[in-house]
Amino acid sequence: MKIAVVGSGGREHALAYKIKQSKLCKELYCIPGNAGTSKIAKNINIDAEDINGIVDFATDEQINLVVVGPENPLASGIVDELERVGIKAFGPKKGAAILEASKSFTKKFLNKYSIPTAEYKTFDNFDDANSYIQSKGVPIVVKADGLAAGKGVTVAKTKEEAIKALEDIFIKRKFGGIGDKVVIEEFLEGEEASFLAFSDGENILPMIAAQDHKPAYNNDEGPNTGGMGAYAPTPIVNEEMRQYIIENIMKKTILSMKEEGRTYKGVLYAGLMIKNGKPYVLEFNCRFGDPETQAILPLLESDIVEIILATIEGNLNNYTLKWKNVYSVCVVLASGGYPLSYENGKVITGLDNVEKLDDVIVFHAGTKLDERGNVITSGGRVLNVVGLDKDFKMAQKKAYDAIRLINFDKTHYRTDIGNKAYKYL
Ligand code: AMP
Ligand code: GLY
Repeated sequence: MKIAVVGSGGREHALAYKIKQSKLCKELYCIPGNAGTSKIAKNINIDAEDINGIVDFATDEQINLVVVGPENPLASGIVDELERVGIKAFGPKKGAAILEASKSFTKKFLNKYSIPTAEYKTFDNFDDANSYIQSKGVPIVVKADGLAAGKGVTVAKTKEEAIKALEDIFIKRKFGGIGDKVVIEEFLEGEEASFLAFSDGENILPMIAAQDHKPAYNNDEGPNTGGMGAYAPTPIVNEEMRQYIIENIMKKTILSMKEEGRTYKGVLYAGLMIKNGKPYVLEFNCRFGDPETQAILPLLESDIVEIILATIEGNLNNYTLKWKNVYSVCVVLASGGYPLSYENGKVITGLDNVEKLDDVIVFHAGTKLDERGNVITSGGRVLNVVGLDKDFKMAQKKAYDAIRLINFDKTHYRTDIGNKAYKYL
């Protein structure tokens, strides 16, 4: 098959790496990809959000399957458009991607179907939202309704912070139209986990649970980012909890979405908070997580293209997922200053040395090749270094040992990725 992956991050490099291993993959493209994907696929210089451009390219090149990484094209209906011209596409249609694209829709949906989540209220104006915050007190969580690349959520410890978040949304219009509504939610204290499953609209195939690290600095300090590292499988989700999540969150969501006339096919990602041993849904994402995918996919033994096709065709009940019995720890190397301002164009050295190592994989994110063929930085999150081992501590050590071989000016990374697992191992 001719397969194209849409996106340019570490998640898409990991998807391309896994798709390339499939016996069904004859030719692989990445739209637009990065320096890492250029080694295993043909990069096509079309923006991941240019739906018409992608549909035209896929039609002209007779692509058989398009696998969509990021949420924006999914929420804009890229799968609907590709299907309209007869091209198989992996991911939910626009009507189902709303699970990520509107937090107010999702909270209402979760309550309607009694799926566990934090108590909340939705508001469309500053004054009512402000009164609610004054009556509820802090800590409290303020969320802009739509897609904001993870930046629309404020966990407010003081009323001033909560009011500032409201002002940013309603008065300064920091998030434009997506700030027409706000969800204000009870603060839940606990441990976070990411639970991803393939869904064909009726059946699910759950993946191993992972844990992301969103804040920029060690000990979860500093501003939130897209994710500074992840590991899998996380022992925070034990077997009993896994079964609870599958039955009461994942299956229930998929069957309820069908009932709503919004059949959900693709990967469903539940961002969970585990409080006193019980999981609550903080959010859904309508796609693979980044960096969770970089930790999860190296452990998958099954042919991902077979699973993707079964997802699209609606026969996942005939499949199971096979996993390697090892741990993975993925550490993100970011540009100094990320998630605020940072410089691009720094030459990255040492990648050749890391390629020679066993049990280490480097997935590129914000990288490109300059005219001399050097790999240079071109984004906030630059590289994902993944260590693999049967022993968790060794997996972590392999990732950090490899990182010491890689260099670019003003590299920034967390040195505590995976430490939260030790309490549960
Ligand atoms: P979301 O995009 O809704 O997942 O929120 C981003 C991050 O904010 C989450 O990963 C959590 O760290 C935090 N968060 C969101 N909702 C809550 C909540 N109700 N209680 C505590 N933390 C939250
Ligand atoms: N790792 C968080 C996300 O993919 O949204």
